[in-house]
Amino acid sequence: MSPTRRADRRGPLAQGAWLASLVAAAACGRDEVLGATGGGGDRIASLGTFLLVLAAIVFTGVMLVLAWAVLRRRPVRRDDGVDLSEPGTRWVLWGGAVMPAVVLGAIAVVGMAIMGATPAPRAAPVVTVEVIGHQWWWELRYTGPTLRGDVVTANELHLPVGQPVRLLLTSTDVIHSFWVPGLNGKLDLIPGDTNDLRLTAREPGRYTGQCAEYCGAQHAKMGLLVVAQAPADFQRWWGEQLQPRQPPHDSLALAGERLFVEGPCAMCHTVRGTGAQGQVAPDLTHIGSRAMLGANAIPNSPGYLAGWITNAQGIKPGVRMPPITFYDGPELQALVAYLQGLK
Ligand code: CUA
Repeated sequence: MSPTRRADRRGPLAQGAWLASLVAAAACGRDEVLGATGGGGDRIASLGTFLLVLAAIVFTGVMLVLAWAVLRRRPVRRDDGVDLSEPGTRWVLWGGAVMPAVVLGAIAVVGMAIMGATPAPRAAPVVTVEVIGHQWWWELRYTGPTLRGDVVTANELHLPVGQPVRLLLTSTDVIHSFWVPGLNGKLDLIPGDTNDLRLTAREPGRYTGQCAEYCGAQHAKMGLLVVAQAPADFQRWWGEQLQPRQPPHDSLALAGERLFVEGPCAMCHTVRGTGAQGQVAPDLTHIGSRAMLGANAIPNSPGYLAGWITNAQGIKPGVRMPPITFYDGPELQALVAYLQGLK
C-alpha cells in the first residue's frame, strides 16, 4: 500500500501498516524510515513521528481513564440505565466529541502542511528513469535532457546527489509499489498507467528500497539498491553503462560468452554487443558492476552467482529463472568468469 497517496483515506489501517513497517524496518536493520535524508522522505518521517507521539498520548489518556473507571466501579443495580445527569453528559461531550475533534483537526492541519511541502513535480528533472516493475525485479531505463542515449539496467538505481531525478513508474504484470524510505514515500507501479515520482538525494551513499505492495510469492525479495553519487561519479557511471559489453579478456571468459550466447541464457537476457538479445529478464550488459543479484537478494560474488545460475529456485522459490543444471563444473566456471567480468 502507498501511505503517501492513500494514508488519508485509509486512516487507522494505513497508520497501523506504517507502524508495522517501521517496526519491521527497525527489526531487520533495513533502511532508516525515521532517519530519511532525501527531499520528501524526511518530511514523511516527521509526520510519522508526530502521529506516533500523538497516538501515544491519546492511548495513555484512554488507559488512565479506563483504569480510573475500573478502580471506582460499583455493583450494577437493576435500575441502572444510561447516566443522563450533568456529569454523564459532560463525559460524552468532551470525550466523544471535543477531544476527537481536536486530535483529528491537529492531524489534518499538520498532515496537510507537511504533504504540501513535499517537492513539487514541477522541479525540472536532470535525469529521468523509467522504472518498470516485474515479478520480482526492477527494470531501469535512463533517459533525460542532459543525457544522450539510453542506459538499461536492473535493480540498482544510480542517482546524482543534489539533482532532481524523475521516476516514471509502471508495471508489466501486477501492481508493485516503489519505496525507498530514506528518500521519499511510496508510489505504486500500475500496469497500463504511469506514475511520476521525484527523488533528490541530499547525501551520497547507498539506500535500500523495497517493493511495498504484495505482488506474489517473492514480493519480500523484490528489493532495490539505490546508489547516490557525486554528479561527476554519476556521469562516469553513466558513460560506462552506455557502452556495449566489455569483450572477454581471457580464454575462460571467452568460453563463458560462447556458452551464454549459444545457451538458454540468451533466450531471456540481453548483453549488448553480443547476439544475446532476450527481453524478458534483466539486462546483463554490466552485471559485473552491480553489487547484488536477484533484486537485492544475494551478493554478487562468484559463489552466489554460480548458485543463482544452477538453482535460483532455492534462493527465490517461484522466480522466473529456471534451474540451469546441465553445465559441468568447468562450463559453470567459465560462465561465472564471463558474467563477473562484465563491468
Ligand atoms: Cu513487487 Cu511486491
